[in-house]
Amino acid sequence: MTDSIISTTGLTKNFKKTLAVDALDLTIGSGELFGLVGPDGAGKTTTLRLLAGLLSLSEGDATVAGYDLRKESESIKKHIGYMAQQFSLYSELSVLENLQFFAEIYDVPRKKMAERTEKLLQFARLTEFKDRRAAHLSGGMQKKLALACTLIHEPKILLLDEPTTGVDPISRREFWDILTNLHLNGTTIIVSTPYMDEADRCSRVGLIYEGKLIVCDTPRQIKKELPGEMVEFLTNEWQKAKKLVENLPGVLEAQTYGEALHLLVDDGNKGLAQITEALTKKGIKFRGARVAPIRMEEAFISLIQKLENK
Ligand SMILES: Nc1ncnc2c1ncn2[C@@H]1O[C@H](COP(=O)(O)OP(=O)(O)OP(=O)(O)O)[C@@H](O)[C@H]1O
Ligand SMILES: [Mg+2]
Repeated sequence: MTDSIISTTGLTKNFKKTLAVDALDLTIGSGELFGLVGPDGAGKTTTLRLLAGLLSLSEGDATVAGYDLRKESESIKKHIGYMAQQFSLYSELSVLENLQFFAEIYDVPRKKMAERTEKLLQFARLTEFKDRRAAHLSGGMQKKLALACTLIHEPKILLLDEPTTGVDPISRREFWDILTNLHLNGTTIIVSTPYMDEADRCSRVGLIYEGKLIVCDTPRQIKKELPGEMVEFLTNEWQKAKKLVENLPGVLEAQTYGEALHLLVDDGNKGLAQITEALTKKGIKFRGARVAPIRMEEAFISLIQKLENK
């Protein structure tokens, strides 16, 4: 790995009775695009807020951009762009005015302001909307404007908390094109997301569960660690089908996605034949039976299911 830009040891945050972040050891290299995933309440937001210097540490240590989080959290802020999960723009201000407002908060020199706002407007493809009030932008545009505001002081580290949640797929893709560009230009990005296709675009992914970092690896490696192969069946009778086949020998795990039944089996082709036979025998209609590549989604659900059954 290149030089680390973020490093934590035993990073812990307690809120009265809740242990939100539990002894996190995390090292992030300069220029990484790091994805943070985990179920609701896992501790993603708390982790990001700790790294942004917005919360005090209960225990442990952390260094961000060379600064000690315990002693120098104020100095960290100018190197960081933090986009909160509930990011609020100034709805009565226009797109341009929002950018100018954040430029002032972050002490962007007046001389640089025009050039930077123009560059960010282009970057976020908002130039033609620069006079529109933030309240009148689409959800996707608001997110892009929020990101542009987060970038106004040219931070070298970006901490983005579910920046695309609730955004339509096209805007999500546009947003990620921007992130990829920033990543290619050397910005270090940590982004939390509920979308597994987004996690798949990260250089590494950390899975947080009940405040602990359970897995931390490249998407490729995380998928590789899932034992066996995946077979898929599409059926309206997925509940019946699942019950029938999930305990067959060779079937390691069953997951359902709408009417898609995904079965982790020790051997793809053998499993396909065996399950086809079992379903046919019981008269369960299905289509689209195939051996399918393992996606982040399955790897993630599999890990969570194992943790929940412990
Ligand atoms: N200010 C706070 N006071 C008390 N408890 C808190 C506070 N902030 C977070 N928590 C608790 O800490 C735990 C972790 O919350 P956190 O917001 O970090 O989770 P998350 O992974 O971001 O969840 P989500 O996916 O729902 O955004 C939860 O149990 C939450 O209720
Ligand atoms: Mg959160």
